Amino acid sequence: MQKNKALVLGITGGIAAYKAAELVRLLVKNNIDVQVVMTEAACQFITPVTMQALSGKPVYAGMWDASIPNGMPHIELSRVADAIVIAPASADFIAKLVHGRADDLLSTLCLARDCPLLVAPAMNKQMWENPATQRNIAQLQADGITILGPDSGEQACGEIGLGRMLEAEDLLSLIEAHFQPKLLLGKKVMVTAGATLEMIDPVRAITNLSSGKMGYAIAQAAQEMGAEVTLVSGASALKPPLGVRTISATSADAMYQAVMGNIVNQDIFIGVAAVADYSPTKKHEQKIKKSESSLTLELSKTKDILADVASLPNAPFCVGFAAESENLLEYAEAKRQAKKLPLIVANLAADAMGSDENSVTLLDKNGAHPLERAPKIEIARLLLQHIVSML
Ligand code: CTP
Repeated sequence: MQKNKALVLGITGGIAAYKAAELVRLLVKNNIDVQVVMTEAACQFITPVTMQALSGKPVYAGMWDASIPNGMPHIELSRVADAIVIAPASADFIAKLVHGRADDLLSTLCLARDCPLLVAPAMNKQMWENPATQRNIAQLQADGITILGPDSGEQACGEIGLGRMLEAEDLLSLIEAHFQPKLLLGKKVMVTAGATLEMIDPVRAITNLSSGKMGYAIAQAAQEMGAEVTLVSGASALKPPLGVRTISATSADAMYQAVMGNIVNQDIFIGVAAVADYSPTKKHEQKIKKSESSLTLELSKTKDILADVASLPNAPFCVGFAAESENLLEYAEAKRQAKKLPLIVANLAADAMGSDENSVTLLDKNGAHPLERAPKIEIARLLLQHIVSML
């Protein structure tokens, strides 16, 4: 996300208001400037003092606040914001937005805005399912307002169903996604990610330490930039990014089949998976019993997915990853040329595997482009911007 985006966070009356505190903390941590505006009802659930402490700014809760010099907070606050986010948005506040009511600061601010409005509903499942609420949500969408969630699960009232507000982390990623330039609109992107698992017998396997974090971040970033994304995932404990078609393929062979079966019409292929180069020649159907003092496993070479995609007629734009432990740029460039790739991403295996951050160098025919150490989602966005510049 570009630094120093400014948000107005509107909080309305609902028990999910407590999650807004965590959301403010995450937004501030991600360098987003937050101005909190609360309705009177919201102040019954969480105090402005809490929100002030977390946002580092006084909270606006009334129409008649004299601290804004021209006395027009409803205009001032929205003019300096890149977006207004209402979280939680009660059923009542949603109904108010539909009718363009302006009887408190937050609703007036929404009516007077000249920036995007994002709304995160939070309510009991019957209230959510009520045709009146559904009509209101459809009307907000028709008015160009973005609806975030809601989530389903256990509710404060004890019932289970749709209506609870998304968790703060999910809201943060949707807000960040909203700000991404849609550079990949209309493009199809396929990403492989994670480790492969080559079974030796029913309970043992050969695998590696790849967590899938880099590949999942690229899939998410591509989706945020407007692409239609297919993620072919090996073993990974991660939750697939929202809006990404995910195909699970744990062995090198299954991953090869999944990629080749879906590669037609893809514009970009990014091989991030740590694919096993060798797999046991014989897959034992029963557990291997220990008997001898040593055991020799015969391994056969797997098919190189990336190289085969790159050599297809009408191949998509292919990007590889090289995780090395020494001679990073030299080995990575050799791989780029051997697999005939326009671009390869070089990183040190020890630095990248399992970590939430990475520092990489992009290698293309023009040479090396180092990217500073940053969270993997930031690296993913910069990589995709580089790909767009090459397309
Ligand atoms: N790759 C692939 N299919 C394979 C092996 C690798 O698609 N069977 C892709 C990876 O996703 C990655 C790149 O190729 O994008 C890594 O290249 P590779 O030469 O396989 O790397 P290593 O296995 O690390 O090679 P080496 O052990 O020789 O360093």
